Amino acid sequence: MKLRIAVIPGDGIGKEVVAEGLKVLKKLEELSRVSFEFKEYPFGAEHYLKTGETLPDWAIEEFKKFDAIYFGAIGDPRVKPGILERGILLKMRFELDLYVNLRPVKLYHPRLTPLKGKNKIDIVFVRENTEGLYAGAGGFLRKGTPQEIAVQEMINTRFGVERVIRFAFEYAKRSGRKKVTLVDKANVLTYAHDLWERVFAEVSQEYDLETDHYYVDAMAMKMIRSPESFDVVVTPNMFGDILTDLGAEIVGGLGIAASGNINPETTGMFEPVHGSAPDIAGKRIANPLAAILSASMMLEYLNLEKESKWIEEAVKRAIAENKVTPDMNGNLKTYEVGDWVVKFLEVVANEEEG
Ligand code: NAD
Ligand code: IPM
Ligand code: MN
Repeated sequence: MKLRIAVIPGDGIGKEVVAEGLKVLKKLEELSRVSFEFKEYPFGAEHYLKTGETLPDWAIEEFKKFDAIYFGAIGDPRVKPGILERGILLKMRFELDLYVNLRPVKLYHPRLTPLKGKNKIDIVFVRENTEGLYAGAGGFLRKGTPQEIAVQEMINTRFGVERVIRFAFEYAKRSGRKKVTLVDKANVLTYAHDLWERVFAEVSQEYDLETDHYYVDAMAMKMIRSPESFDVVVTPNMFGDILTDLGAEIVGGLGIAASGNINPETTGMFEPVHGSAPDIAGKRIANPLAAILSASMMLEYLNLEKESKWIEEAVKRAIAENKVTPDMNGNLKTYEVGDWVVKFLEVVANEEEG
């Protein structure tokens, strides 16, 4: 079976980490019956600065024909903030209607957490991915004057809120998880998040799962104090963005945080949670594990459960043997970590297939 994957390495360390993810996927082709056809796209800062184009509509149409999209990161200090973020990344999320941003926060080794005495952290964030404060509704009035007004509206549709909450419950049920926690700020956002609370209460009736609720400020505290108490967490777009960087930090940092942007009915786009990291780009020290684990998530989504687990296991072994980059207190280069994961993948595959 040939799987068609659109690849967008993007900017900065996006390029460096995607190269390692592809290295691992190519090794997998040798070790299993899976085969890929990769098509690479140049979208990102360089392409924008040369052509003025971010992500054209024809590319969105083309992406729909792929089994999945594998993405690095965008963002460049030479480009005004928002142009590439909205023009490329959010455009994919919105126009492909990838309404779920699935972001696991999983501790692969006790030494990776800065939290004393915590050795079991296994949370899955279900972040709403097409609405909320990200919708892009709003504008300026009297721009540039002392009376300027800047409005950024938060959009919450019954349809959008219900489908992501339903996904969270379905996901929890399907993966044998026990509890779904809603995180919002309904004590202040008394319209928008009142809707979230009502829909959550309603949908939860259909499932035999424990439920729980936190306001986002308390959630930030609680994730540090007792991260082990969370299982599946569903939350609006902006809160999901912030809490998953926090989540990354309690399990080893942004260098290991993977994600999937998905719509169960159409396609999926898989990418590390981190950005283009201009501060370390080109130094060959970016941690490729988030990108490699995003490739593993992509395989799981493509129903290649076994191969997905192999990659995850290979990453676990690389971490256990301290074959990691400086952000995780190792001394390896990006490509060396990729090489080690490839080696461990071979070991894992041989163990499993005999
Ligand atoms: P960032 O995630 O790029 O970096 C934050 C910090 O984490 C930096 O110190 C960086 O060096 C470190 N870091 C991130 N990934 C790492 C890795 N794999 N290995 C080692 N260290 C890593 O966030 P930022 O600095 O706020 O943003 C930089 C640019 O990236 C901006 O233009 C922003 O808009 C963009 N961005 C893009 C995405 C995306 O494409 N998905 C996500 C976040 C930010
Ligand atoms: C992320 C990023 C994006 C977001 C930005 C770059 C638009 O921070 O994927 O977490 O805010 O969703
Ligand atoms: Mn983010």
